[in-house]
Amino acid sequence: MQNMLVDLLALPDSRPVYEELKSKGIVIRRALAPDKKLVCDFVRRTFSECAVGEAEASFARKPVSLFIATEQERLVGFACYEATAPDFFGPTAVEKDHRGMGIGKALLLRSMEAMRDELGYVYAIIGGVGPIPFYEKSVGARVIPNSDPSIYRDFMTPKQKEKP
Ligand SMILES: CC(C)(COP(=O)(O)OP(=O)(O)OC[C@H]1O[C@@H](n2cnc3c(N)ncnc32)[C@H](O)[C@@H]1OP(=O)(O)O)[C@@H](O)C(=O)NCCC(=O)NCCS
Repeated sequence: MQNMLVDLLALPDSRPVYEELKSKGIVIRRALAPDKKLVCDFVRRTFSECAVGEAEASFARKPVSLFIATEQERLVGFACYEATAPDFFGPTAVEKDHRGMGIGKALLLRSMEAMRDELGYVYAIIGGVGPIPFYEKSVGARVIPNSDPSIYRDFMTPKQKEKP
């Protein structure tokens, strides 16, 4: 899995993306501590058990470094940043029946803006991608040469962890 680099000083205008989703009743907001249980259950179901660890790391930060998308009080997407390593984005996922609506892009942009404005980064790293064209299209990300394997090298699977 390769890493990608995003120039945070060259992010596209996010306002039309947020406005479009708002008109469809989709809310993008920062997760709060009371959301933790619901969000972690969602992350487990839509991504993986290992990603729950990353979400929990985001919830340990103040402000929480995880954004969510909701529709009529139903969680439909999430994105973490500053979870597994400083300046890293991910993991992220959108509910299957809500993909292709711009939710993933909005969560990504919101996270990139937070990394720039809240943490002061000039570049962000998308860790261990993933759908490269999605990141290229959404925020102009570029694959970092020779970045495979990423930080997720020698990774344990949940099955291995269960062995005595
Ligand atoms: C990747 C993911 C988060 C994208 O969410 P989404 O809400 O469907 O994406 P968007 O609707 O915001 O798409 C934004 C753009 O990227 C494109 N895109 C989205 N997913 C893509 C993919 N897998 N491959 C190529 N292009 C993709 C869309 O067509 C859209 O292009 P457009 O602006 O020209 O219309 C979602 O598909 C997902 O949850 N996948 C499973 C988990 C995953 O792979 N996470 C990333 C781990 S690194």
